[in-house]
Amino acid sequence: MPKIVTNLPGPKAQALLEKSRRFEPHSMSDQVPLVWDHAAGCVITDVDGNEFLDWTSGVLVANVGHCHPDYVAAVREQAGKLFNCYDFASEPRILLAEKVVGLLPAHLDKLFLVTTGSDATEAAMRIARCVSDGWEILAFHGAFHGRTLGAASAGGSLGVKHGYGPMVPGFLHVPYPYCYRCPFGLEHPACDLQCLKYIDWAVSKESCGAMCAVITESYQGGAGSLIPPPGWYEGLERWIRDQGLFFIFDEVQSSFGRTGKMFCMEHWDIHPDLVCLGKGLGSGVPCAAVAGRHEILDLLPPGSMSSTNGGNPLSSAAAIAAIDIMERESLVENAARLGDLFRARFVEMQRSVEQLGDVRGMGLVWGLEMVTDRKSKDPDRDLTKAVIHECFQRGLAVIAPIGVLGNVIRVAPPLVMTEAEANESLDIFEASLKAATGR
Ligand SMILES: Cc1ncc(COP(=O)(O)O)c(C=O)c1O
Repeated sequence: MPKIVTNLPGPKAQALLEKSRRFEPHSMSDQVPLVWDHAAGCVITDVDGNEFLDWTSGVLVANVGHCHPDYVAAVREQAGKLFNCYDFASEPRILLAEKVVGLLPAHLDKLFLVTTGSDATEAAMRIARCVSDGWEILAFHGAFHGRTLGAASAGGSLGVKHGYGPMVPGFLHVPYPYCYRCPFGLEHPACDLQCLKYIDWAVSKESCGAMCAVITESYQGGAGSLIPPPGWYEGLERWIRDQGLFFIFDEVQSSFGRTGKMFCMEHWDIHPDLVCLGKGLGSGVPCAAVAGRHEILDLLPPGSMSSTNGGNPLSSAAAIAAIDIMERESLVENAARLGDLFRARFVEMQRSVEQLGDVRGMGLVWGLEMVTDRKSKDPDRDLTKAVIHECFQRGLAVIAPIGVLGNVIRVAPPLVMTEAEANESLDIFEASLKAATGR
């Protein structure tokens, strides 16, 4: 449970942050002044000895909790044996591929390992272009697929593009179902999924007739935890099949138990051709992958897809250990169970806090959209930051605001969280919310 022993930030944290300002660019996201020293499970200890409950998991990475003893033991053991052997085969890489394929829906029967989520989305889009005649890719407003040039070009938010010059040609963007602020001014279900119907119109006006794929996040994370309404993904997949395109599903953030299922796609009746994995796959050590059907992946020319660090023995051993922990400790089920608790508590808070405009989430990933009042829905960015700051002062670590409008609080604790930790963290959050809204 949290323990605050200094003013925040403490003296050592202040000195390090001053050095950071001198020696590092400020291109990273602007987090509360928490300088992490070590962490175990769901508890972070900062460099001054203050302890915080974790609602970040890094950034939805440490699904098995921080420094799980079995995970640390597996990494230590592998570190004493072998770190890198490039494209030469190694037992950990091959066993990891076998293990992940065993968890995936049957049609996704091969796995290509890379290092970061951006590597995975880039690879998936390159694969779609390589095995088809087309090169245009449909993506969504608000999407985040990473910060490399191709991934940023697929992205649908200006945050990663503005100021960085022309993007890669060939991307078309259409609205994503952000039902709290529908771009068409409609309401579900009366809208009859107008945003899906609009895709035909947009493609007929913008495509040169060279489409090869559609890429979408499973739920839009950075845009504010936006979850499409029922039937939307099934409808999108029907459209993709009618057009003869590849369906790329970016599960970098949502896979490995985060949403209360092993893979988020299991919430819907869909069958993507290529699935991007990352974050929770390695649960700490960088590890990412593209899963796909062998009919697609076996078409890639030898040498055209590989990577210096992808599938290295250390990250592969770490990922195997993480998956073993998830299975042994039933973390997917824990995420689903705690998800019900989080939902109930947030909905209850919404009753008394007018500024808590919308609550959305699944399992252990939630987005809380802060507004000045429910009627106007005007985004309240200052209040969003104030709540996060109040949480920090009380010993709860929360990531900087997310959302298309910068007014969403992201809740994403490690999946090893206990019910007692969940309740304690929710109590701290409620007190912080009430303090920031002046109640
Ligand atoms: C959905 C999604 N795709 C891709 C990425 C990029 O991953 P990375 O930062 O590891 O390159 C992220 C990272 O937040 C993500 O959430």
